Amino acid sequence: MNVYDSGRMSDTMVANGYEIVDDSDTADVILLNTCHIREKAAEKIYSELGRYKALKEKNPKLKIGVAGCVAQAEGEEVIRRQPLVDLVVGPQSYHRLPVMLSKLKTQKKSVDTEFPLEDKFLHLPIPEKNKRSSPSAFLTVQEGCDKFCAFCVVPYTRGSEISRPPDQILFEAEDLVERGAVEITLLGQNVNGYSFCSSTESCDFASLIRRVVKIEKLKRLRFTTSHPIDMTESLIDCFGTEEKLMPYLHLPVQSGSDRILKAMNRRHTKNCYIDIIRRVREKRPDIAISGDFIVGFPGETSRDFEETLELCRNVNYAQAYSFKYSARPGTPAAGKEEVSEKQKVARLAKIQDLLQQQKNAFQAKMVGRTFPILIEKKGKEPGQVVGRSPYLQPVFLEGSHDLMGQIVNVKIKAFTNNSLEGSLDLAS
Ligand code: 5AD
Ligand code: SF4
Repeated sequence: MNVYDSGRMSDTMVANGYEIVDDSDTADVILLNTCHIREKAAEKIYSELGRYKALKEKNPKLKIGVAGCVAQAEGEEVIRRQPLVDLVVGPQSYHRLPVMLSKLKTQKKSVDTEFPLEDKFLHLPIPEKNKRSSPSAFLTVQEGCDKFCAFCVVPYTRGSEISRPPDQILFEAEDLVERGAVEITLLGQNVNGYSFCSSTESCDFASLIRRVVKIEKLKRLRFTTSHPIDMTESLIDCFGTEEKLMPYLHLPVQSGSDRILKAMNRRHTKNCYIDIIRRVREKRPDIAISGDFIVGFPGETSRDFEETLELCRNVNYAQAYSFKYSARPGTPAAGKEEVSEKQKVARLAKIQDLLQQQKNAFQAKMVGRTFPILIEKKGKEPGQVVGRSPYLQPVFLEGSHDLMGQIVNVKIKAFTNNSLEGSLDLAS
């Protein structure tokens, strides 16, 4: 979502007469978009900011802004910690950026971490007419979270769940497709909790999917991130009925121990999660399942962790993300007695090893077969392009740059830890 937000911020700046430059050395404004989800991500910002000191000495006009969830969570504290910062803007106030910047002509600092009543999406401009979209584009349909998992800052930094009106989403989706998008990923912290209700219409996430796939020139649709408790029957059905919906589901579970799931306030059990995966696979047997895991949540015993490994073996993930628990200020789990760092490190290594084995097995099965690959960008090597398989794996192949934005048949020849290699399969 930060990638999407950064795009909307740059659209706003361009609409207000700014120009985007590739090199921070030549910029008059630098905006850092930040993440507060784990301590490591949040701390990164301060080391990055330190590097701008020399730039500010060279160009006294330079304004430095901090956006995103660190800005939301820490507010003025960001400026106290790093006085180089001129502006702090939370994720709900990006449409106010130009006004905030012009205020800096008469005042020293500008901070906005409100959750404004006006619809920010209505106030964010659409991109300039000639701006091309990448073949695969993001589109935020829902923001915020009311789930309050005990470890998570999102409900505090992104606020409560808000769903955008379907017409606004369809307008943006059609616009993206006209600019060259072939694939769209619908975004939301709880994307499948999407629910729009007005006096004239109501629309849930499955209905939204069914409306977006009707855009003829759109070839592929994805969504992320989902919560197990919002995996409705009609959403699961979409995997069986909607051909454009790609066979990939990122469904975080966090732990395989019911005791820990309860302490995390996840509101689902291990069996409930496994049953969802079973039902999704019934509709789409080849689907790639992805997940998120936290190891070392306060109170997690070796037995609890073993249950998480057991769940991984049961689900058999195509790929997954796993993290060491990181206490976040203001969350219910912060301050609880922590699992030792040594245990966390050992558990993380163990789960990552298992998940990598599962990923390799998933990739190995693809070797020798042909898949439709959406070509998205140039590769690092000359004459190389990179695309994505239906299962979201990066695929490297030799090919002309004219293939950009096309879906082509590629025969898979080999795999590495994170990607596939193949060649154009002209026969099929
Ligand atoms: N510590 C570690 N991982 C976290 N996540 C969220 N909060 C924390 C935390 N405090 C992970 C969860 C979530 C993903 C986006 O980040 O696994 O699904
Ligand atoms: Fe955070 Fe996701 Fe839980 Fe919401 S559902 S609190 S975003 S982990």
